[in-house]
This record gives sequence, structure tokens and C-alpha cells, in this order.
Amino acid sequence: APRAQVLLASNRGPVSYALKDDGSLEPKRGGGGLVSGLSAIGSDVESVWVCAALGEGDREAVRRGVGEHGVRMLDIDAEVFSDAYNGIANSVLWFVQHMLYQTPLEPVFDAEFRRQWASYEAYNRAFAQALAAEAGDGARVLVQDYHLALVPGMLRELRPDLRIGHFSHTPWAPVDYFRMLPDDIARQLLRGMLGADRLGFLTRRWASAFMASVAGVLPAGEGELFGAAEGESGRCFFRHAPAGSLPARDTDIAVHSLGADGDFLRRRSHEPDVEERMAALREQIGAGRKTIVRVDRTELSKNIVRGLLAYRHLLEEHPEWRERVVHVAFAYPSRQDLAVYREYTEEVARVAADINSSYGTESWTPVVLHVQDDFARSLAAYRLADVALVNPVRDGMNLVAKEVPVVSDAGCVLVLSREAGAYEELGEDALVVNPYDVTGTASALYAALSMGEGERGERTKRLAAAGTALPPRAWFLGQLEALAP
Ligand code: G6P
Repeated sequence: APRAQVLLASNRGPVSYALKDDGSLEPKRGGGGLVSGLSAIGSDVESVWVCAALGEGDREAVRRGVGEHGVRMLDIDAEVFSDAYNGIANSVLWFVQHMLYQTPLEPVFDAEFRRQWASYEAYNRAFAQALAAEAGDGARVLVQDYHLALVPGMLRELRPDLRIGHFSHTPWAPVDYFRMLPDDIARQLLRGMLGADRLGFLTRRWASAFMASVAGVLPAGEGELFGAAEGESGRCFFRHAPAGSLPARDTDIAVHSLGADGDFLRRRSHEPDVEERMAALREQIGAGRKTIVRVDRTELSKNIVRGLLAYRHLLEEHPEWRERVVHVAFAYPSRQDLAVYREYTEEVARVAADINSSYGTESWTPVVLHVQDDFARSLAAYRLADVALVNPVRDGMNLVAKEVPVVSDAGCVLVLSREAGAYEELGEDALVVNPYDVTGTASALYAALSMGEGERGERTKRLAAAGTALPPRAWFLGQLEALAP
């Protein structure tokens, strides 16, 4: 087979398979911004997407040769995978970039961490080797996210002819937080990423934080940053000092925002399955009531519990809204192999039930919580939303904030955390909150419920325009073009 000219690499691929009791394999599309972004690329760009087998179903699919055209799933040893994905990527790197650790107990970089780190290296090496084998001469390779931070450096050693990009879908932590990682690990991560020709981030803020980490963590002799200073708007890059037989070279550091796919969403949200779910939701909400909607993975950084507490405070402080508003909260289970995520999932259910038993009446359920992942029902909730609550403590972008204004039938007020990447583009027309401030969030919800039709409509229009300005296809093609030799 001819080798590919465009390659993608990410931990999660476009589909994952569940192994059913009858032995059949059921394909399922994964959640999260990375898959939403990359899946919309379209089939006209001939590419190979290298991803990991995430569980037994995927491993079985690899064995049976089941899979989608252009997708190559790597069957990595289950224990190595779990160390790399659950142990390092999601318990360490995700926690660092989203600043989720709770001192004094966390983090603990002990012998177990070092053992898992070795698996993370092996898992990254498996990707680098697969990419090196699949890539044609001078091909462009787009590596995604914190799972694969070491791949650019490893791949460059194997295939110096390739053009390598790496894109971070997460925030980047401030240097003082980032360097809580052991020094050798922090350096290895940065060097791994700087193996790329180009590094992409979702916002200026994350790109600047990355450059601050480079300046604060890497020894001065390794290279120099250009264009990083506050206020400079030109090209930003790291110039690697020549080392041994390796000549000087540059790694660009660039910002590529990612927006919602407006055309797709408008079309998809009017299909019959969405209409059906709207009818069911209307029934649960009850006639004449306003709806506050949130849709998230059940993810610590999404701050679902504080959102519920803010809603509770609203009901307490503004009893006139009781019976007249419903909080529709979709919290889809995520990363359930990690105890802290399982506990969080339980806490979300507990707090929601508690609000319902404190305030609910025979004819009114204040919180409608759904945990069964259902894309059509998410779109139905978007269409019905009067208010969208997006209050993460930290988020690389957050596509929900960009999707709801496009889809909502009657216009929708966005209550948005200033710590979401989307804030950079939507901050002016949203009601902005500090995600830790529960009473402040309650005030914003109150203002959102009280906003007049005219203002709400105007804001929704501007939010929808800003949120769809850079649809996934443009985001992807922009990076591909920038990587052209
Ligand atoms: C975030 C990450 C993605 C990840 C997604 C879902 O958006 O940036 O890399 O795929 O969360 O998380 P999961 O662990 O289920 O892949």
C-alpha cells in the first residue's frame, strides 16, 4: 500500500467498540472536543488516523480486522495502556494542566509514578513507531494532546524527513504550577513536544503559559524563544541551539482556535430523533417553565457540583423562581476507571437529588439529571435552552459554549466561566463568572433568567457568529497548510 501523506495521531480515535454478550462489536463515537474537532475533517483529505485500542472491544476489533477506512488502531499491552492513559495522562498531566490537585495530599511523585512513567514512554514509542512505518516521504503528521507529548521528539529521531505538528486541546498551566512535576519529567515533556516543527494551542493564554514553562524549566543553552513577550503579535518560535550533528532549527508556537460546526449542528438538530427527545424533555420540564441547560462529561474540571450549588442558591434567594425554572443537567460518565471520577459522578447525583428533595413539589422537579450519553438528546436540550451554564474551573476551549447559541430555538443566555478558552472569543456577549464563586454564579443565573427578549436575541446572534467562525475543518486545514514544507 502507498504510504500516507497526512497522518493524525491521538489516544482516542473516532470510534471505540463495545464487546456485546453475543460476541458482536458495537461501535460508539467518543465524547470530548478532540474527537468532535477531528471527526469533522471530511473524507476528501486522504489520511491515516492512528489511535489506541481503549478496551477489550477495541482489541477484539483489531484481532478481527474490523475498523473504519483510514483508521489504524494500536493494540498496546493492556497494562502499559492503563498506566499511560489512566495513570500518567489522566491522573498527572490532565491534573497539572487543569490545576486539579488538592494539596497537601496531592500530587505524590513516588516509585509507582516512575513505573507508570516508563509505560507512558513505551506507549508514546508505540505511536512513534507506527507513525514512522505508515508515513510517506516528507509526510505531515498531526499529533494530538497530552497523551502523546513525547511522540514528536521520538518520531523526529526515527524520521527526520517528516513535518511534525502537535496540538494541545487542554489549557497549559502557569509555570509555577507546571514545575511541580519532577524536573527531569518536566524537561522530557517539553523536549518531547519541541521535537515538533509546530506546536498548536487553542488560545493565546495557553500558548503564552507554555512558553513561560519553556523559559522557566529548560536550561538556557538549549535554545531561545522569540516573539513570546507580552504584546508582541508576530510569529512565536523556539530556536533550538545546534547540538552535536544536529543543526539549529525552529519550532513554531501558534494559536488555532476551534469553533463549532454550525452547518452540521443546524441540520442535525432538526432531525426526527431530536424532535422526539424534545417532546420527552418538554414533558419532564413542564409547560411555561424556563430551562437552564448544561451538557458535560462528568469531569472534575467541568465544575458540575458548584453549578448545582449555584442553582440551589438561586432557588433559596429568589423563591419567586421556584416552580418556574428547571435545571436540565446532562453529565455523561467519563474516565470511570479512576476512583476520583467515580466519586465525583456519585456526588453530582447526590447533590442533584438533594436539591430535588429540598425544593421539589408534586408538579415540579427542579433538577432533571441525565447520565446516559445521548447526542440527539443533548441537541434537544440545546434547542430548548433559555440559559446555558458553562462554568468549568479550567477548560482548553469548551465547545458546548459555542454550540448552544447556534442551536437554541428561542435564543439563549450563556453563563460562561472566565477560565474556559471560549471566554477569549465569547466573553463580551456572555455573562461571565468566576467558577469558584457559587453566589456570583447564582447571581449570573438570575440575571440570565431575567434578561429581556431583545437583548437575549442580539447576544445569541453574536455568540453564534463568534462560535462558528472557525469550524473544525478550517481549524484542521489551517494547521495542515502551516505544516506544508
Ligand atoms: C478532552 C481531551 C481529549 C479527550 C476528551 C475525552 O477533550 O482533550 O483528548 O479525548 O477529553 O476524554 P477521554 O479520556 O474519554 O478520551
